[in-house]
Amino acid sequence: MRISIYRRAHFNAAHRLHNPRWSDEKNIEVFGLCNSPNFHGHNYDLEIRLTGEIDPDTGYLFDLGVLAKIIKQHIENRFDHKNLNVDIPEFKDKNPTTEYFAHLIWTILREHIEEKYEIGVKLWETPRNYVEFPAR
Ligand code: NI
Repeated sequence: MRISIYRRAHFNAAHRLHNPRWSDEKNIEVFGLCNSPNFHGHNYDLEIRLTGEIDPDTGYLFDLGVLAKIIKQHIENRFDHKNLNVDIPEFKDKNPTTEYFAHLIWTILREHIEEKYEIGVKLWETPRNYVEFPAR
């Protein structure tokens, strides 16, 4: 019986979307306010899904307290109140879009959660815009 559990988290971070191969005009045209030269902040909401089989000993799929700690330690502590472009090496040469960010979060969590659990990441950059990885 496969089942899913979810844990939500929240953090704030700054970024700038910019393609150095393009002119300033094209960057503004494509990225709009997210191209602001001095960065800007977002209130990110995160939802992590784990899918798998229930452990017959505990009745849990996965201990949500343990999942909360993993997310706190490896995601919130790493990204909260950071400048994604400046502070996060993975974004040194990559645009910190919600797409790449959701993928990075999935990659980090994958290192800390056993393979038998499928991981899903939903990341909201604004209350109305979000990205899901892996794709459905
Ligand atoms: Ni932005």
